[in-house]
Amino acid sequence: KTVSLKDSYKDDFYIGTALSADQIEGKDAKVDSLVKKEFNAITAENIMKSMFVHPSPDKYDFALTDKFVAYGEKNKMFIHGHTLIWHSQLAPWMEKIKDSTEMKAFMKDHITTIVSKYKGRINSWDVVNEALNEDGTLRKSVFLNTLGERYLVDAFKLAAAADPKVDLYYNDYNIEEPAKREGAIKLIKKIKSAGGKIDGVGIQGHWRLASPSLDEIEKSILAYSKLGIKVAITELDITVLPNPWDLKGADVNQNFEGSAKMNPYPEKLPDSIQVKLAERYASIFKLFLKHKDKISRVTFWGVHDGQSWLNDWPIKGRTNYPLLFDTKLHPKKAYNSVQQLK
Ligand code: XIL
Repeated sequence: KTVSLKDSYKDDFYIGTALSADQIEGKDAKVDSLVKKEFNAITAENIMKSMFVHPSPDKYDFALTDKFVAYGEKNKMFIHGHTLIWHSQLAPWMEKIKDSTEMKAFMKDHITTIVSKYKGRINSWDVVNEALNEDGTLRKSVFLNTLGERYLVDAFKLAAAADPKVDLYYNDYNIEEPAKREGAIKLIKKIKSAGGKIDGVGIQGHWRLASPSLDEIEKSILAYSKLGIKVAITELDITVLPNPWDLKGADVNQNFEGSAKMNPYPEKLPDSIQVKLAERYASIFKLFLKHKDKISRVTFWGVHDGQSWLNDWPIKGRTNYPLLFDTKLHPKKAYNSVQQLK
């Protein structure tokens, strides 16, 4: 097919990608033209996170975020902000916030400064990222510890006050699994009933070949949209490698860095798995198409396999194959299978 992904899916939902700092700066011309050809939505993979954008209490660094937003505008892309309140990739000084007064002041300054700076230019924000444990309870964090659960409502209210028109999302992983999904539903309802404005939920979509099941994904899309909010798939990738937490028995406590067992395809992905990945992507996109009226955007977490974060997480230095383009930027079987649905 010569038509790009974004054009194939233009009547259905945005097709997005995360961009690294180098990609925002267009450092590799081939990657840059691929991004412009295939995608019509962008998320900054790292540079909008608090440790980069707000390195010390009185200092914001908007050099790269300005470039990111300008890149999206120049290329007429949907621009997603990621992320305002997250326990991870926090600046060290934020970890030290010790009481509710300080935390309130921090949240007001941080959210208001960033959201109002890009008011009318950013299309949607992940206001809160990953606030839940796997069992659906609230995750311990400096936010929860200082403010209690009201920090969630506060964050959404502050963001809405800074830009009343921008879409506000709660974003998390594994929220298509039943217990965590129930937690997310509860959280969203709470934000709404406390007068917060929440427009959507981001299902990250860091998925595996065999799980989650299509059934759980579908139940989740339906359950969230029943709350009257948009559903976005915000960080889609499908690992083909074993995860340490899936191991059993003696393997569990081993350090697998550099182990062949955990990095079984250092040169090339076997054809049979290439095909499985293509089938998995096709079945997932078929489901998205079935519910296109509920889905606002599907964003991949990276442009091509060569720079996927999954090469270094949860174990460093592996060779993973989770995306639609290979390290040479060629479309994989998975790309063709997603295109063939249209
Ligand atoms: C990841 C980035 O891809 C990595 O480069 C970085 O080192 C760690 O964070 N959930 C999220 C994303 O919301 O921000 C994370 O991105 C992946 C998991």
